[in-house]
Amino acid sequence: MSTGLQLWRHGRLATMTSGVPWGWVDDGALLCRGDTLAWVGPEAELPAALARFGTPAEEQDLQGQVVTPGLIDAHTHLVYGGHRAREFELRLQGASYEEIARAGGGIRSTVAATRAASDADLLAGALARAHALLGEGVTTIEIKSGYGLSLDHEARCLRAARRVGEALPMTVRTTSLAAHALPPEYEGRADDYIDAVCSWLPQWHAEGLVDAVDGFCERIAFSPAQIERVFQAARALGLPVKLHAEQLSDSGGAALAARHEALSADHLEFLGADGIAAMVASGTVAMLLPGAYYFLRETTLPPIAALRAAGVPMAIATDHNPGTSPTLSLLLMLNMACTLFRLAPEEALAGVTRHAAQALGLGASHGQLRAGFRADFALWDVDHPNELAYRFGHNPCHGVVSGGQAVTLAR
Ligand code: NIG
Ligand code: FE
Repeated sequence: MSTGLQLWRHGRLATMTSGVPWGWVDDGALLCRGDTLAWVGPEAELPAALARFGTPAEEQDLQGQVVTPGLIDAHTHLVYGGHRAREFELRLQGASYEEIARAGGGIRSTVAATRAASDADLLAGALARAHALLGEGVTTIEIKSGYGLSLDHEARCLRAARRVGEALPMTVRTTSLAAHALPPEYEGRADDYIDAVCSWLPQWHAEGLVDAVDGFCERIAFSPAQIERVFQAARALGLPVKLHAEQLSDSGGAALAARHEALSADHLEFLGADGIAAMVASGTVAMLLPGAYYFLRETTLPPIAALRAAGVPMAIATDHNPGTSPTLSLLLMLNMACTLFRLAPEEALAGVTRHAAQALGLGASHGQLRAGFRADFALWDVDHPNELAYRFGHNPCHGVVSGGQAVTLAR
């Protein structure tokens, strides 16, 4: 009788479990049962493992390829209509992101394009973007709403996000970011809009559309008091929260998020010592988004050394969105996290595996090659995993396994 076990042998494993650097196993094997890793360890210990688990139905020789956990992009805005190439031109002519936003462009222009897009177009755009990420070994993504900004349009975006997870071999976590910007029909009535968001959340939640709730706490978006109300509504539903905080100024957003036991506080260029202390106390992950830092030509760096010294886990994501980070390369973010933010390559890889999983509340099931975790992994044509951060504009992903199933990568 088939054991249903699949064995992958002779890999050089960056398991990304904590302990040894990279969680390195020089000649290692992965034993999968269904979508889960039953056992991971050195070849020398494989006979004992097989005596315990049985003979595998299938066996593959990885021939020394480097294996990492499937990468995790834990902050994306993948569902939207249109693009903002014209806004990019305006910024190159001297307009700032904030000026464009205050003049009704920016997020609002993407809201108009998103509302005008059909369900089919929203899904097709999101699928194409998710597929590009998958080709770089990304097996888990977070997808935010935030360009619909009404009961119906936000629901359409969240449904599209859910359908990405059904159509592709990826784990998708959805996040409601209705508190992203003030839609034009609520001009001058931000508090009324927040009331509306709080009343809509239970409806999206009842439809199973929301895994977490996010907001944009900034002088061009919502105040801490307004975000607090959204967080209270989220937590009343048992939903975890996260926050776009301290991107353009220090509004105390990270400390507010930490008070609500946020999974992550994201951006953090203007994070101060109080915010760091609050994040330590709540176990909130620092989500670093070097693509937005680069594309907005920010000059204030997030306080990396202080976060590291305080032991705050640091995650890295694309922040893919049409306004501040139109990238679809998580590998490029690894490079930028090192070159711009001075992370070590191992910290950067932890940022898109173990710590990214933690930022999605998936720290006990995703982001490490470890028994009991999901059998998501990526095979790389590199000598060492530090090359994933070293190269840029280059994709050495050679294979992807998601939930124990090999994924066919279109090239
Ligand atoms: O993560 N900061 C707020 N939200 C997005 C940008 C949204 C946009 O400009 O369309 C971000 O950078
Ligand atoms: Fe974002």
